[in-house]
Amino acid sequence: MKTFKIAIDGPAGVGKSSTAKAVAKKLGFVYVDTGAMYRSVGVYCLDNNLQPEEVVPHLDKISIDMKYIDDIQYVYLNGEDVTKKIRTPEGSIYASKVAVIKEVREKLVSLQQQMGMHNNVVMDGRDIGNRVFPDADAKIFLTASAEKRAERRFNELNGTVPYDEILNDIKFRDKNDSTRKIDPLRPSSDSVIVDNSDMTLEETILHIYNICIERIEK
Ligand code: CDP
Ligand code: CDP
Repeated sequence: MKTFKIAIDGPAGVGKSSTAKAVAKKLGFVYVDTGAMYRSVGVYCLDNNLQPEEVVPHLDKISIDMKYIDDIQYVYLNGEDVTKKIRTPEGSIYASKVAVIKEVREKLVSLQQQMGMHNNVVMDGRDIGNRVFPDADAKIFLTASAEKRAERRFNELNGTVPYDEILNDIKFRDKNDSTRKIDPLRPSSDSVIVDNSDMTLEETILHIYNICIERIEK
């Protein structure tokens, strides 16, 4: 059975997950948040006092499930609800650290590919167009300045985390994600690059939905 695959990649705070989730809903596709999977492996390290590189022998013991109830995504790590834990600043940093490990990427990429075999999916992450689905029906690379992305996160967190801390985290992860050896963050040659620095979320959603519809109906 042919399934449709939409890949949305880009740096932290650009609006990938909000956009991917809304586009998936409009298309009736399954939304897959691959960042939540890397974050869950990071939380496993934090909970078990492991340095990121020590997680490799544990990978077979790690199971990650995602469920949607009333449009809200819940993430389970070995049965435990880690939905909130994965979003802490520490969780973000650990996600980025485990994401440079080859074995971690192989395991998660394989799980993501299986999801796309059985469902029409909108998947967001860093390497979806390049690695997970090189044959995706539409590949979008979302981008915006680091300052704009930090401002969005700052507003999202209602000012509870200082702006400078958020900007530093974003810059740290931008560097880590784009300079790692395996599948660094970068647009594939066949992706549509969308700079949404001056677009609202609603404008971004509509723009990407229109690109997807055009590709799907071809
Ligand atoms: O939402 P945000 O963009 O802040 O991060 P995320 O998408 O939840 O991803 C968390 C971290 O996981 C990123 O900083 C990347 O290091 C890593 N990641 C990755 O390497 N590959 C993916 N496909 C998704 C996330
Ligand atoms: O998944 P990613 O880290 O790329 O970003 P996100 O969590 O979807 O979006 C980060 C924040 O930016 C959310 O509060 C979005 O509502 C907001 N956003 C925005 O204000 N304008 C946009 N054009 C896109 C996202």
